[in-house]
Amino acid sequence: MYDELFDLIKSIYANQSSIVLHEPILTEHDKLYLNDVIDSGFVSSVGQYVTQFEKKLSSITGAKETVAVVNGTSALHLALKAVGVSHEDEVITQSLTFVATANSIAYCGASPVFIDVDNHTLGMSYSSLKHWLENKCKNTSKGLINRTTGRRVAACLPMHTFGNSCEIENIASLCREFQLPLIEDAAEAMGSYYKQQHLGTFGDIGVVSFNGNKVITTGGGGALLFNDKSLAESVRHLSTTAKVPHPYQYSHDQIGFNYRMPNLNAALGCAQLDKLDALLASKRRVFKSYHDFFNTKFRSKPMSLIEPVKYCQSNHWLNAVIVEQASKVKNLIELASEQNIMLRPAWQPMHSLPMFKHADRDDLTVTSDLASRLVNLPSSAVINEQLNLPKLPEFMSGN
Ligand SMILES: Cc1ncc(COP(=O)(O)O)c(C=O)c1O
Repeated sequence: MYDELFDLIKSIYANQSSIVLHEPILTEHDKLYLNDVIDSGFVSSVGQYVTQFEKKLSSITGAKETVAVVNGTSALHLALKAVGVSHEDEVITQSLTFVATANSIAYCGASPVFIDVDNHTLGMSYSSLKHWLENKCKNTSKGLINRTTGRRVAACLPMHTFGNSCEIENIASLCREFQLPLIEDAAEAMGSYYKQQHLGTFGDIGVVSFNGNKVITTGGGGALLFNDKSLAESVRHLSTTAKVPHPYQYSHDQIGFNYRMPNLNAALGCAQLDKLDALLASKRRVFKSYHDFFNTKFRSKPMSLIEPVKYCQSNHWLNAVIVEQASKVKNLIELASEQNIMLRPAWQPMHSLPMFKHADRDDLTVTSDLASRLVNLPSSAVINEQLNLPKLPEFMSGN
């Protein structure tokens, strides 16, 4: 019954003996940048590529300032610390997410509180958040307090699932109303926009990831997007062991982190950003192939494709289907595997993991249902390498 779908996937990724969920596109152009940084000798924490990468990210996303770090997880950790999340606090987030979202809250000694997601966005539900804030929390002189646990609610951390936008505009205005710091986990959303505004720029801080499975990669890497330059400066300081600038003395004014992105990774990031538009265009074509197939050809309808919501220009990081019956998911994934096609279920929800099973939560009916029926499809970009890409930036190549 799934043969039509498997044939489509094989036609999109023609000539690939094994089709994975998402692979990086690495070319001669990337090698040019990497060779350049190796020749320069500045492979580690000093070097101009980090600054260049941050500038490019700010210009693409519209963020006022960007800080590049070693991965998306460390970016989330720093973001939460920067808005003041501390021991015994709570952070409202979603259970349908990658474990890094909840882990980063735990790194601060705080507890996640899980509220439900929407069927259409797969991200945090605005109405569930509103209901939670209005009914389960109270405003006190110490700030917003969870009436049940008595803990301070220190931030809200929604996630943009698979590159599609959650109801970020409404969530942002609700957070403003409750004076709740908003951090967007936009790890999967590099190149995604809502009403022309890049995801990750609606709240206090947004986080993107450049892990090898993302739209662009730096090997491992992440970045924080800021609208407030002074907040960015304090995070940059924290990410470099809080070292006080001095020509030779080692002095640190607080407990910092060794989270700064190395120059080597940033060079790869600059090369990858040169082809971001081409990658996004290709991913749009892959999505369109799935869209046409599910809307016109795949008549038996055992599953339906997740489509981006209105006003969202998605990067289509991972295309996903909702299988009609949860009991069919295992069989679908195994049949695909026999044909060397990788399909994957969504994450096990955070509230079902041993370390978060005692976390406070709202009704999670949609989360549990989606987690049992969501399946990701192969979504890598397919690009023709004859792209007219820029040469090395002027500040390098022997200058
Ligand atoms: C939703 C989400 N948050 C956070 C991360 C963490 O990013 P990294 O792997 O760069 O640490 C990822 C992915 O990797 C993710 O998908």
